[in-house]
Amino acid sequence: MATLVSELDLPLLEGQRVTPSTELPQDHWLARNPFGYAVWHYDDVTAILRDKRWHSAAGRIPELMGVTDEQFLSRQRVSILSAEGDVHLRLRRLVAPAFSPRQADRLRPFMREVINGLVDNVAAAGRADFAVDICEPYPIPIICELLGAPKSDWQLFSRWANDILEIFSIDMAQKLDLIVRTQDELDAYTRELIAERRSKPADDLLTDLIAAEEEGDKLTTDELVMMVNAVIVGGTDTTRNQLGCAVGLLAEHPDQWALLAERPELAQRAVEETMRYFGAVRGTARFASTDIEYKDIVFPAGTFMSVGIAEANRDRAVFNEPEVFDITSSKGDQPQLTFGSGIHYCLGQALARAELQEALPLLARRMPNLRLDGPTEWKPEGVGIFGPAHMPITFDPGH
Ligand code: HEM
Repeated sequence: MATLVSELDLPLLEGQRVTPSTELPQDHWLARNPFGYAVWHYDDVTAILRDKRWHSAAGRIPELMGVTDEQFLSRQRVSILSAEGDVHLRLRRLVAPAFSPRQADRLRPFMREVINGLVDNVAAAGRADFAVDICEPYPIPIICELLGAPKSDWQLFSRWANDILEIFSIDMAQKLDLIVRTQDELDAYTRELIAERRSKPADDLLTDLIAAEEEGDKLTTDELVMMVNAVIVGGTDTTRNQLGCAVGLLAEHPDQWALLAERPELAQRAVEETMRYFGAVRGTARFASTDIEYKDIVFPAGTFMSVGIAEANRDRAVFNEPEVFDITSSKGDQPQLTFGSGIHYCLGQALARAELQEALPLLARRMPNLRLDGPTEWKPEGVGIFGPAHMPITFDPGH
């Protein structure tokens, strides 16, 4: 007989999320937290992310943060990040080819150009705020290039991305006006760009998305606008913070930084290992769309579940010596989970991997002897994405 989850005697976790500072009970796989429940073992995390009855909580975050504006809430719910079932399947099918590894590879030379340009600004001084000088600006020109937006609009995109990303901040309820105004501006801009591309196709993501078709089915203009929004929300802050986490970690392992400069072919493994050991997405959340029975426990419809990705990435049952950071040796057969799992598995993973694989060895070569130059200031571990706000570094100048 399955037991109702509320009848179990479970430990209580303090934060609404499982974070590295959370004290996890060793003798449990499930705990209570202020919003509902939490899991953090690799097998439970993947089981829940792959079970379609557990729906994305992305569209529910504003509600949980106290937002009541119905127009705002309904706009969030139509995003691919929060769509479910057939609606989600159709969107994924239509847009997947535009996000293939081959499409991401086309941008690799441009990625190197952007990183080189950013290092050029600081190379002579041999010091920088890595978070501000390199991480912040890196993803924006790439997203612009990907979408086919003109270079002259980079600054505009940067501001829009920052303002829309306030949606993940702790005090997002107070920033609603700004978020809505920015989403409106971006919507208007995107509609114009779409109209332009419809009459004059180009070699970019937007043209691919306009042309995307399966058995006569196509994306509507509203869906195209939503996808551009999802690419900006999903593709900028994640990548810049992951780069900051990776370099902060490598700065504490100078031998591995030097090795990466010598052996750029280690880039792929370095990206997977830095994302396993120190991912910028620490966790995500789901809610039960119906009553769900799992491991003889019933989770009633509506149950909220925090999913501890960072903890799962250190699970001893899956990874060899998970507490040891090593870009040269395999940790096992299972993938790291910082891109998620299941139907919402990161759509931009090929692009993000390419961006990090291009950046890391190039930075290691041009910033030899990289060291932290004072304390790193980390962003708060709230509902959002984790990474450095400021990271002063020094390195041997002139490379
Ligand atoms: C290192 C960088 C990145 C990380 C760590 C990351 C992480 C994630 C994670 C964990 C999810 C799943 C969330 C969940 O299941 O609740 C996700 C979904 C998504 N990501 Fe990424 N992401 C990154 C870069 C990107 C980029 C560059 C793009 C776009 C170009 C992107 C677009 C998306 C989209 C559209 C989704 C929603 C997919 C869906 O719901 O079907 N991401 N990402």
